Amino acid sequence: MASLSQRRAPAFHGRISILKRRFPLFKLLIYVFCFYCYCFQIKSSWIDFLIFLQKASSSRKSLKRSIASVPVDEGLFLTMLMKIMNPKKTLEIGVFTGYSLLATALGLADDAQVTAIDTDKEAYEVGLPFIQKAGVDHKINFINSDAESVLTKMLDNNEGLEEIDFAFVDAEKHKYKEYHEPLLKLVKAGGIIAYDNTLFFGLVAQQEDTVQENLRIATNGILELNEFLANDSRIEISQISIGDGLTLCRRL
Ligand SMILES: C[S@@+](CC[C@H](N)C(=O)[O-])C[C@H]1O[C@@H](n2cnc3c(N)ncnc32)[C@H](O)[C@@H]1O
Repeated sequence: MASLSQRRAPAFHGRISILKRRFPLFKLLIYVFCFYCYCFQIKSSWIDFLIFLQKASSSRKSLKRSIASVPVDEGLFLTMLMKIMNPKKTLEIGVFTGYSLLATALGLADDAQVTAIDTDKEAYEVGLPFIQKAGVDHKINFINSDAESVLTKMLDNNEGLEEIDFAFVDAEKHKYKEYHEPLLKLVKAGGIIAYDNTLFFGLVAQQEDTVQENLRIATNGILELNEFLANDSRIEISQISIGDGLTLCRRL
């Protein structure tokens, strides 16, 4: 005889199917929910550090921008990418509370270094205890400054020229294009520059006048960058639809 849950299941699934057919948005929500449950289910102990850091970022009232962190799938991708590439020197522009930084550092070899640049030290300090607990803080060199001056200083001092294996850019969107020229000098041939948010909530595919005014500068910055990257013969690109869109540029 069928158990109570077995007898109830068809009716329950039937109702879900009707909802999914009638409301495409409901279908999307179910998909997103299942995807996140799946990502958290397959967590291993080091992923716990990422989860704790994410929670700490969102629980701070002053840090309303916790949405700014890359999502869990992109974090896991960064860790995996580091393990595949095995870079020795990496750069991160835009750290916030350090979610993508921790994901990167977890994938780096013990003797590798990530130079992480952000103007907001307070946000970094929220995530730092979790980075320390994960035992990867020795791989991080945090610089509390704006990226423009750090990159200029590095170039002026001939510091790190063609030495960087991987650079992850996730700061102000309209400035990405400014970072591209210095980064091409710092990243070695075969190395990767990764630009985050290159799909920018899908706004890149929307008519400009339908984009909310406060998002136009950033959207236009991303549009300009995408066009520029697509025509830059010094790199080869792959745009990945993970998170908010990530463009990998391999320096030729
Ligand atoms: C989107 S958040 C970074 C999120 C982080 N990559 C993550 O996934 O957890 C953007 C960060 O860029 C920083 N930022 C903005 N302009 C900057 C600049 N000119 N130089 C360095 N950092 C900057 C902000 O302070 C903010 O913390």
